[in-house]
Amino acid sequence: MKQILALLCTLAWFSFPAAAQKTPTPKVKSRPAAAGGVVVGKTIYARNCLTCHQADGGGVDGMNPPLTQTTYVLGDKTRLVKVILNGLQDEDIDGEPYNNVMPAFDILTDQEIADVLTYIRSNFGNKASEVTPAEVKAIRATNRK
Ligand code: HEC
Repeated sequence: MKQILALLCTLAWFSFPAAAQKTPTPKVKSRPAAAGGVVVGKTIYARNCLTCHQADGGGVDGMNPPLTQTTYVLGDKTRLVKVILNGLQDEDIDGEPYNNVMPAFDILTDQEIADVLTYIRSNFGNKASEVTPAEVKAIRATNRK
C-alpha cells in the first residue's frame, strides 16, 4: 500500500511541472481495479472521511449524513465532486438536517478524488458508475473559487 501511495505521489509530483509548461501530460494508464482504484479509494476514505461518515458509511445522526443511497452520492457527478472541492454546510440531505460542517478537500488530487468517490459509489450498498480523474479535472477547472 505504501508503495502505491509513493507511486501516486511521484506521479502527482511529475505531472505539475509538465502542466506548467503546457506540454501534454502523458496519459497515466488506467490501473487494474485490484491494484488501485477502489483499493486506493478505501485508504483515502479511511484517512479523510471515516471519522465523520463512519467505516460503514452510516454517518452520525444529526451530525454527519450517511453516504448510503443518498441523492448526492448516487446522483449528478458534478454536484458530488463539488461537495468534495468546496465542502458543504447548512444543507438538508434527503430532507434531514445535519449540524456538522463538511470541510473542503480541494487539496486532494484529481486521481485521489476520483478514487475516493468511486469507492463510496460502489460500497455501502451503492452501485453507481465510477468517477474518473478526467471528470474531476474538468469540474475543478470550472469550479468557482
Ligand atoms: C468533519 C466531518 C466530515 C468529514 C471529515 C467529511 N465529511 Fe462529508 N459531510 C459532512 C457533513 C456534516 C455533511 C453535510 C453538510 C450539510 O448538511 O450541509 C457532509 C456531506 C457529504 C456528502 C453529501 C451528502 C451525502 O451524505 O451524500 C458527501 C458525498 C460527503 N460528505 C462525502 C465525504 C467524503 C468523500 C469525505 C472524505 C474525502 C468527507 N465527506 C469528509 C462531514 C464530513
